Amino acid sequence: MRSTTGWQADGTALRSTPISRRDLRSDDIAVRVDFCGVCHTDLHSLRGHNGEGPLVPGHEFTGVVTEAGPDVTAFQVGDAVAVGNIVDSCGVCTMCVAGQENFCREFPTLTYGGTDRYDGTTTLGGFSREYVVREKFAYPLPSGLDPAAAAPLLCAGITVWEPLRALGVGPGTRVAVAGLGGLGHLAVKFAAALGAEVSVVSRSADRAKDALRLGAHDVVVSTDAESAAAARDRFDVLIDTIPVQHDLGPYLQLVAVDGTLSQVGYLGPLSLETMDLLVGRKKLSSGGSGGIPATAAMLEFCAAHGIVADVEVLPSARVDEALDRLDRGDVRYRFVLDLSDLD
Ligand SMILES: NC(=O)c1ccc[n+]([C@@H]2O[C@H](COP(=O)([O-])OP(=O)(O)OC[C@H]3O[C@@H](n4cnc5c(N)ncnc54)[C@H](OP(=O)(O)O)[C@@H]3O)[C@@H](O)[C@H]2O)c1
Ligand SMILES: [Zn+2]
Ligand SMILES: [Zn+2]
Repeated sequence: MRSTTGWQADGTALRSTPISRRDLRSDDIAVRVDFCGVCHTDLHSLRGHNGEGPLVPGHEFTGVVTEAGPDVTAFQVGDAVAVGNIVDSCGVCTMCVAGQENFCREFPTLTYGGTDRYDGTTTLGGFSREYVVREKFAYPLPSGLDPAAAAPLLCAGITVWEPLRALGVGPGTRVAVAGLGGLGHLAVKFAAALGAEVSVVSRSADRAKDALRLGAHDVVVSTDAESAAAARDRFDVLIDTIPVQHDLGPYLQLVAVDGTLSQVGYLGPLSLETMDLLVGRKKLSSGGSGGIPATAAMLEFCAAHGIVADVEVLPSARVDEALDRLDRGDVRYRFVLDLSDLD
């Protein structure tokens, strides 16, 4: 086993702790983690953690390859890499064969809180200085992208990219993005760069200026009945990134006839008034992370269009502050931890 340092949950607090990484398997690379984004899922995980098993959050990171197993072909020591929230899958089921490793029938191995397919250990995430990963689940980081600002592409980015692509968003499509946070601001950038007309659906008008700067055409204020009524039946695609359980009715009302609401923010049971779907033959969908081909395509698209997240970079010792401000919605638009202070 190798040893590194990570921010491990101790109750609800995170403490810098020595953690183990596996010795490299033949197709593994070791990555020095330089930057890791702070996702709202990290907050959900910390809150839901019952103390059973170790929890080191973090599942969107960039860094540099420091060692490569003998069968590694895609990377060399010194290469810049990016890793997201999936680090393994069965590789042979129909989903994996179709390049949808995110929907692997055996469930993909998550970057943290997952179970390693070979040794059964609990995976520990990217709030740490080193990660060991199969090369297949690491991506070359395009040289034009800032490594800190690119880290959130690997979870927030791909989670909205895949539904936008699957739903055919492009020129002529009207897209709404509900919740202007980490996922939401990247959805706005992507949809605008794909040629769609984009609107932000936010709880307040405060973020209107930012929304326009990010590429949105206008803002629908969800708490303002007039603003919402004016946008009724308007959007072909609505990407809902809201992180709490909520009534989908008001959001479905914004969707056009035969349009789709893709609910990617809140994962859990929801009740639904079917009349909200019936009127307008509306569709409800979801998505989570992305397959290997889509992730690679997203990174290429970002390199071609100069897209990265809007980030506030903090030394990793300030992780509690980042989580606390994320919880309060005080973030524009993604915190990224600089892990170099763990050396
Ligand atoms: N499907 C997946 O695979 C996947 C992957 C990553 C994350 N997620 C989930 O996606 C959600 C969003 O993550 P994120 O990192 O983008 O979070 P985030 O940065 O906190 O952004 C969420 C946004 O939702 C809005 N919002 C927050 N609380 C709300 C409330 N009570 N009611 C209505 N709107 C509210 C806010 O936007 P406004 O202020 O503009 O209203 C906020 O900026 C989380 O639940 C996360 O776990 C899912
Ligand atoms: Zn995430
Ligand atoms: Zn599979």
